[in-house]
Amino acid sequence: MDRGELLYEGKAKRVYRTADPDLLIQHFKDDATAFNAQKRGTIVGKGVVNNRVSEVLFQLLERSGVPTHFVRRLSDRDMLVKACQIVQLEVVVRNVIAGSLATRLGRAEGEPVPEPILEHYLKDDALGDPLVNDSHVRFLNLATPDEVAAIDAMALRVNEIVRACLAERDIVLVDFKLEFGRHHGRLLLADEMGPDTCRLWDKSTGRKLDKDRFRGDLGSVEEAYEEVGRRICEVAA
Ligand code: C5P
Repeated sequence: MDRGELLYEGKAKRVYRTADPDLLIQHFKDDATAFNAQKRGTIVGKGVVNNRVSEVLFQLLERSGVPTHFVRRLSDRDMLVKACQIVQLEVVVRNVIAGSLATRLGRAEGEPVPEPILEHYLKDDALGDPLVNDSHVRFLNLATPDEVAAIDAMALRVNEIVRACLAERDIVLVDFKLEFGRHHGRLLLADEMGPDTCRLWDKSTGRKLDKDRFRGDLGSVEEAYEEVGRRICEVAA
């Protein structure tokens, strides 16, 4: 399957048309941004890790009954996906306090939460992806109440499945961001799932193995991505 016209270029990915209007190619770049693109850089090999980790997790989710846009991995950096209409809502699920929630609620990073915390953000870079509630979602017509309920149930199911899988690989799934798409009237998990969009901590040491190493200038960024790739993909292979 060859790349056609470039449809979209984002911060970490490019999306191309293919000869089949129902299929797109998602290309994973090494470009890294943080703090709404105020910080920019490159994480060598990141695109390869995100592509492979997303493949393993999407396949796991499909086997567990969560529909995704994943069709197959085409190469190191290219993934064939179903063409869907992306819901302009970013869904974050949190198992441990970190990041913006630590700041917003004034709680210490690392505090576990008794049940997953689910949040919705408006997918809008120009506005810095603001937190929105159900009234905002209705006002902005981002999704119907039934769609929101289905999206939330899928996000919590993704949390259960991926959290258990990563625990077996000595990784704590601290939090993550998901995006969903509409495909022939059906909701699918879209985008990607890997160390760019998940906080992943080593279970025994608490070492950060994700994009927070880039965000916080913690060093050994590439090594952390490679470590996640090894733990998730080699066991799965
Ligand atoms: O920054 P915050 O704590 O809200 O991020 C929560 C989770 O969502 C983190 O795992 C982060 O990597 C992810 N996220 C993302 N893309 C965004 C915002 C957050 O992947 N635009």
